Amino acid sequence: MKVTVVGAGAVGASCAEYIAIKNFASEVVILDIKEGVAEGKAMDLMQTASLNGFDTKIVGTTGDYAKTANSDICVITSGIPRKPGMTREELIGINAGIVKEVSSNLVKHSPDTILIVVSNPMDTMAYLVHKSSGLPKNRIIGMGGALDSARFKYRLAEALGAPISDVDGMVIGGHSDKGMIPLTRMATRNSVPVTKFLSDERLVQVAEDTKVGGATLTKLLGTSAWYAPGAAVSALVQAIACDQHKMFPCSTFLEGEYDLTDISIGVPIIIGRNGIEKIVELDLTDAEKAKMQESAAAVKKTNGLLEV
Ligand code: LAC
Repeated sequence: MKVTVVGAGAVGASCAEYIAIKNFASEVVILDIKEGVAEGKAMDLMQTASLNGFDTKIVGTTGDYAKTANSDICVITSGIPRKPGMTREELIGINAGIVKEVSSNLVKHSPDTILIVVSNPMDTMAYLVHKSSGLPKNRIIGMGGALDSARFKYRLAEALGAPISDVDGMVIGGHSDKGMIPLTRMATRNSVPVTKFLSDERLVQVAEDTKVGGATLTKLLGTSAWYAPGAAVSALVQAIACDQHKMFPCSTFLEGEYDLTDISIGVPIIIGRNGIEKIVELDLTDAEKAKMQESAAAVKKTNGLLEV
């Protein structure tokens, strides 16, 4: 199993690290355009192998896509991250050109690859890759919801005073501060709805804290987060590599599901060796359906800024 990660910034390096440390891939290639950075991070990570106990080979390259040839999975993290006060949508001008070029180079060298899109604005970047790469829709996965759901579980555990392994929950909709839909109604603590333990007001707070999860970290760090994004990507890569048939909410191209068409947005999907195996349609309440439509309208507005 060969995995390429494009972008040797903090998110790309974390992806490579978590994938390697889980020891299921034979090779991880890190590619960046900044001279020497990918090679340096790959070498540094390789020098953790004997300490952390993995055999995955990590290779770095400055812009040589030939080294990525025949990757089973490619992860696109390239582009600029957001700064404090910026929305993900504001990154579109620079990131759209980069993501289009990177995805086209990747597909040229790995025509059978599955692409995981991380660059922001993520739903619009996943849509752009769908429109421009020629890959079938089951092989394009936008990472956002997997990350947002991890942040939701963190906030739920905090509110419940429970360990995170006790809680379960999902965030669907767009990967944006306003567009995320934490499904508090369906969240559980060991199969008991969290609504049994938390007041409506507390759950509203949990949802709001989840939605600004990325912005909160960007304010603290001065740039966007990397550990949880890297871990979310590695979980998706593992689900594909190990054919786990695992369910994650991810940005997926929809053709009528959730009454939406011509859009990539976060919905639950089953992920296995062929990428997206199935889109899971939840029975949403009217209020949740309305939120989904509103979230989709915002994503479509951003998509409208693309030149595809
Ligand atoms: C975040 C970025 C990766 O939410 O979108 O941290």
